[in-house]
Amino acid sequence: DANKPIALVIFGVTGDLTRRKLIPALYQLCKDDQLPAPLHVIGFARRPWSDEKLREELTAGIMQFARTKPVNAQSVEELLKMATYIQSDFQEPEGYNRLLGYLEEKGYQKVIFYLATPPDAYVEIIQNLSVCQRYAEQKQWVRIVVEKPYGRDLETAQNLEDYLHQCFSEDQIYRIDHYLGKETVQNILVFRYANGIFEPLWNNHYIDHVQITVAETVGVGTRAGYFDKSGIIRDMFANHLLQLVTLTAMEAPYAFNESSVRDEKMKVLRSLRPMKGKEALINTVRGQYSAGEVNGKQIQAYLQEDRVAPDSITETYLAARLHIDNWRWAGVPFFIRSGKALPVRETEIAIQFKQVPLSLFNWKNMAGEAPNVLVLRLQPDEGINLSLGAKIPGPINEIAPVKMEFCYQDAFGSEPPEAYERLLLDCIQGDQTLFTRTDEVIEQWRFVTDILKAWEENPVKSLPQYLAGSWGPVQADKFIEEEHRRWRRPGS
Ligand code: BG6
Repeated sequence: DANKPIALVIFGVTGDLTRRKLIPALYQLCKDDQLPAPLHVIGFARRPWSDEKLREELTAGIMQFARTKPVNAQSVEELLKMATYIQSDFQEPEGYNRLLGYLEEKGYQKVIFYLATPPDAYVEIIQNLSVCQRYAEQKQWVRIVVEKPYGRDLETAQNLEDYLHQCFSEDQIYRIDHYLGKETVQNILVFRYANGIFEPLWNNHYIDHVQITVAETVGVGTRAGYFDKSGIIRDMFANHLLQLVTLTAMEAPYAFNESSVRDEKMKVLRSLRPMKGKEALINTVRGQYSAGEVNGKQIQAYLQEDRVAPDSITETYLAARLHIDNWRWAGVPFFIRSGKALPVRETEIAIQFKQVPLSLFNWKNMAGEAPNVLVLRLQPDEGINLSLGAKIPGPINEIAPVKMEFCYQDAFGSEPPEAYERLLLDCIQGDQTLFTRTDEVIEQWRFVTDILKAWEENPVKSLPQYLAGSWGPVQADKFIEEEHRRWRRPGS
């Protein structure tokens, strides 16, 4: 039975996500012989494609985006030879009947439904899938994968969760936050819980503050239509950034399994100090990029991008100060920020340790900053480094910061796998540890919706601008300097 093929039904198979991420990841798994059973792709979308066209397009996606090249033609053939296409509108029950007919005809006992469509199609797809759910009752297993964003705020997220739960049980639902599939993100827990030396310091006795940065060089480009309705808060903050906060701040789980890890993450989300009304306004800074240059490339102003409303107040940059009200973190602010059109692509978590109680030495080029920073670099140049003060050789007692470095590439050689490889494999194998649970999603939205409401109730005409290629609006610098701290300059 283990070798029986798995049907992977991709809704929105003609879209960008399938081409760039899903199919290249499946190809890699197939090529590396990691798939536990043959996998048959069934594409479901509106465009008038044939099976042939589907195979051609997916092959082109693999050619362009495969992680390891040259592409192995035999693996492509193996992955796509059974690929088939069902053309239908998402609201058309007849299309789902055809899908069901096909699944039955082929006798699939294992089925994954993958929602890779724009989120506004989710509810109608899920409702229509109830037809297929009947099928599920007699078969071995049926799973559904849902891509973020799951909802726009607490109410719509709750709504979506209700629909999902009408048709599927929680152990069938795999909500993807692709950051959890990144090797380096998983390594946060390994770093903390496989090593005994850092955990005793991982608290408000020794840590001054934490900075989490997810900086991107790209503007919104072709995704402007989606982005203008979302902003950084929905696109990055409500999911990726909050997940990084939970992994950094959580207590040790009793085991590395799905219930325990997710229980601990939930406790962090519940301990976040709510940002209602004024609290949201003083603890966040928004910005929008204006025209500028990133890595030698001109980027036009956000407001000039195609499909962005000319008076849009959607943020392309967001910085926030979070407080985690529990014993471990009371008094330790978490400064988190994310933006488009910043000077470097860089994701890092920096743990800034406290100053020594009494300074005995002169620091060269450092104005009273505490030297000990532990940086988990999630991408690119994945690694970990720790800054220390060291004596500059010579007769004067002068101290300079130096670094102890660990680099994945040097230690392990090959490039780490793509997040989607791990997540697809985990879904096939039925492991939900790296997927977000319903209560996490709701709690994330509860927190974020307070901020959204506060912004809505205190409308602004425009947002602070920052030059594309700069590190965000000056207001964000002032915001952290008020607390006598400074943003790091990742990558410099
Ligand atoms: C996605 C966001 O979830 O993550 C994008 O929708 C963003 O706006 C992307 O660019 C960043 O992912 P990564 O893996 O490139 O850091």
